[in-house]
Amino acid sequence: LEALHITIQQDPSLPEAKKTKISKSYSAVDERVKVSGWIHRLRSSKNHVFIVLRDGTGYLQAVLTGDLALAYQTTTLTIESTVTLFGKICKLPDGKTASGGVELLVDYYEIVSLAPSGEDAYTNKVAEGADPSLLLDQRHLALRGETLSAVMKVRASLLRSIRRFYDEESITEVTPPCMVQTQVEGGSTLFKLDYYGEEAFLTQSSQLYLETCLASLGDVYCIQESFRAEKSHTRRHLSEYTHIEAELCFLDFDEMLVHIEKLISRVVQYVLEDPIAGPLVKQLNPGFQAPTLPFMRLDYKDAITWLNEHGIENEDGEQFKFGDDIAEAAERKMTDTIGVPIFLTRFPVEIKSFYMKRCPDAPHVTESVDVLMPNVGEITGGSMRIETTEELEAGFAREGIATDPYYWFIDQRKYGTCPHGGYGIGTERILAWLCDRFTVRDCSLYPRFTGRCKP
Ligand code: 4AD
Repeated sequence: LEALHITIQQDPSLPEAKKTKISKSYSAVDERVKVSGWIHRLRSSKNHVFIVLRDGTGYLQAVLTGDLALAYQTTTLTIESTVTLFGKICKLPDGKTASGGVELLVDYYEIVSLAPSGEDAYTNKVAEGADPSLLLDQRHLALRGETLSAVMKVRASLLRSIRRFYDEESITEVTPPCMVQTQVEGGSTLFKLDYYGEEAFLTQSSQLYLETCLASLGDVYCIQESFRAEKSHTRRHLSEYTHIEAELCFLDFDEMLVHIEKLISRVVQYVLEDPIAGPLVKQLNPGFQAPTLPFMRLDYKDAITWLNEHGIENEDGEQFKFGDDIAEAAERKMTDTIGVPIFLTRFPVEIKSFYMKRCPDAPHVTESVDVLMPNVGEITGGSMRIETTEELEAGFAREGIATDPYYWFIDQRKYGTCPHGGYGIGTERILAWLCDRFTVRDCSLYPRFTGRCKP
């Protein structure tokens, strides 16, 4: 009853509180601060109320004592309510742990907004172990959880590291269009759209546009959404994904492979060195080992032999033969067994795209590469590109693609062609590998896949 009469007031004799974000509060020991955020955890004992506050930059343990703990206002607090806490940052005694090694001794606080309790409580909406599809309906709330938000932090660090690497290599960023009238990776996965009465598609890959930039900007890259109307419901296919693509000129296939392994190892190094993302990777993927260079090179034809020697069958339940596509299940079994990153190279012409260059020493195979990682499989696909108009037109003819819409792409071979190649990395796939996630869906902010386009 007494508690009802307690009004929470700020003591005017206290020093002014410095407004701070949680990550900065860790180093503000003995200072009086003011921190705003969401109540992530809430627990009360006899005379204490413990709050873990979250503001996106970190977590802060806070403790309310005395009248503050007893006040009626305090009994109304719920998980996900927003509050502004005032108090002194104290170093935790040895043996006690909390984020940043500190605790906030609250001397005053204000409620910004109370989140619902009862049936609508946050914890009911995103209950642990709930059906994945229910959790996806509540993605906007589920993102507040520690695991998903950690993956998103690592994702931000990964993209930052990718840009840093390209910058160091003098590779220029461009932004190709998402609405296009050409295909890159096969007509069956095109999303069609009505573009003012003309047929258009959502881009499957920015590769063709990147190729057109070589002559003006030299080596280029983009980080752009790609769209695939994938019919298959797998743990590594999205309908929309963030595609990191680069195109490099005046180099040969081996030089491109060296570039790709350098990119992957350097980017992993930068993420692990990142003071925020590094510890998160360790938390999400405690056994993670940075890959060592050089990556293993495995010729497609030797992979076929390996699969047969290990009793792994193709999709028809038969022995693999040269020319078979190595589908997801077999590819993953092989990669997981070998247990290290693999450059799978020199795929047959027939199972690869129209633009891929043939190997000079074996024209029935291409200068192509898939990068395979344990637990995920393919995270990158790339190749050297056909250099001459005649050969390119033969490629289009083989795939039954009418060349008219590609006049601008073909022109690259006419106006000063050059040896060039490039690759695409699936952001969500490299993250699934780095953060040890079962599915790429956990590595996308709002994943899109068959049957899911909300929220
Ligand atoms: O192997 P892909 O289809 O290659 C290309 O698109 C080339 N044109 C890229 C280039 O050379 N510029 O796709 C490249 C990568 C794959 O290795 C995979 O990581 C990712 O994109 N990817 C997908 N990720 C999620 N969902 C899907 N449906 C994906 N399809 C491809």
